[in-house]
Amino acid sequence: MSEAEIKSLEAQFEAKIANDEKIEPKDWMPEKYRKTHIRQISQHAHSEIVGMLPEGNWITRAPSLRRKAALLAKVQDEAGHGLYLYSACETLGISREELYNQLHTGAAKYSSIFNYPTLTWADMGAIGWLVDGAAIINQVPLCSTSYGPYARAMVRVCKEESFHQRQGYEIMLSLCNGTEEQKQMAQDALNRWWWPSLMMLGPEDKDSVHTEQSMKWKLKRKTNDELRQQFIDQTVPQADILGLTIPDPELKWNEDKGGYDFGPIDWDEFWQVVKGHGPMNKKRLDDRRNAWEKGKWVRDAAMAYAQKQNERKNKQAI
Ligand SMILES: [Fe+2]
Ligand SMILES: [Fe+2]
Repeated sequence: MSEAEIKSLEAQFEAKIANDEKIEPKDWMPEKYRKTHIRQISQHAHSEIVGMLPEGNWITRAPSLRRKAALLAKVQDEAGHGLYLYSACETLGISREELYNQLHTGAAKYSSIFNYPTLTWADMGAIGWLVDGAAIINQVPLCSTSYGPYARAMVRVCKEESFHQRQGYEIMLSLCNGTEEQKQMAQDALNRWWWPSLMMLGPEDKDSVHTEQSMKWKLKRKTNDELRQQFIDQTVPQADILGLTIPDPELKWNEDKGGYDFGPIDWDEFWQVVKGHGPMNKKRLDDRRNAWEKGKWVRDAAMAYAQKQNERKNKQAI
């Protein structure tokens, strides 16, 4: 392709994005756009399925049948989110095997929040309330992102995330209306999950290398700092209703900016966890690899069954 042809394709591509038209799998796209989307969508897919692990750990210990059914449904939703997102990612020309391989070898990242342990039942409440709450803030803008398959997957994901957030908040509310000991459990979970949840919204704008390009492609509509502020402003009143204290002595309403001021985030901790030194990094990856290896017979059986069905169909056709 000549340079002039590439220039013209690029111009058409930019115009589509500017007009809020979707880019579809068979459309021409710059290589950098394809690569960035493979990276982001796969990281997102990996986060969904690794995110099943800390909560799956509590399904058998849920305190009632109702809680068990809700948690089970939530964890199944996360598997579904992984499935839509892996499928969306495959439309960019990468295979599922390669994506899994990147996760299992540690070449691809997933959200660092899942490298923290879930110590008590209250963690199921705090995760739904804070982690799914922060995920919604990150993900709602993606429903109108430029890559069609990603945007369409996100519409359904976001609807389900809001159920996750509410089931978590309801667990917190019950604990906070319970005994003093139960309320303490809720406070302890908030203390442990608050800061990692703020980190989920990404590094500060000044340290975020991808923000500018992602804003151009509408992969991002707001910067990390704006999203974090939105999360804090929305969550503090919810903590007030629970009667819990946010573990930040510097948290204070700022009338002028119309939002809360907050204390410094420990970015060293964040980077340690990103680099694989969080409390649960090794366990999460080991669990994923085990699931993959132990599931081999299921994949083999499914392939053998599909092949048999095909052979049968072909025979009938003759
Ligand atoms: Fe999800
Ligand atoms: Fe969720």
